[in-house]
Amino acid sequence: MNYRLSDVLIDEQRLRGRVREIADEIGREHRGGELIVIGVLKGAVLFLSDLIREMDVDICVKIDFMAVSSYGASTKSSGVVRIVKDLDTDIKGKDVLLVEDIVDSGLTLSYLTRLLKERDPRSLKTCVLLDKPDRRQVAVRVDYRGFSIPDEFVVGYGLDYAGLWRNLPAIYTLRTEA
Ligand code: XMP
Ligand code: MG
Repeated sequence: MNYRLSDVLIDEQRLRGRVREIADEIGREHRGGELIVIGVLKGAVLFLSDLIREMDVDICVKIDFMAVSSYGASTKSSGVVRIVKDLDTDIKGKDVLLVEDIVDSGLTLSYLTRLLKERDPRSLKTCVLLDKPDRRQVAVRVDYRGFSIPDEFVVGYGLDYAGLWRNLPAIYTLRTEA
């Protein structure tokens, strides 16, 4: 099956506006404190870098990354979560914000939050740019959510299909081509 870009689902302006709102919300809760922002590679990279630049300068932000096994060249979840890269930072006693591009079945986020909680952070919150609630298999807590979207595969702004299209500044849906 070949995929091509279809429509813009969320344009740059809406992305920018929502990222600012989320950064403000986080700022209200963490002003004056230290916050360790953890991005899940590679999809969350663009969202995370925009989000932290919008945060209040009075928050002492540190960043780190984790990588987990991904969908590969498929649009369906394997349900298998494997840590490919772990944190460099000790999060014990710290305020932590886990940033993901999208929550779909919820398997990745629930696995990661369980794993990070075992490391005894002071607090752990989750922030996802996109949420596909129709596809949830396990309940997960999302503290900050960018947009709820329908059950369609999307790319752009960090999200990819087979490694492609992460660079697009907006979120696009895909269409199939015979
Ligand atoms: P789960 O199912 O564990 O999925 O909640 C989270 C991960 O699945 C990937 N994913 C997508 N990636 N477009 C993408 O580019 C999509 O529409 C999509 N849906 C799920 C993504 O890597 C996320 O981290
Ligand atoms: Mg991802």
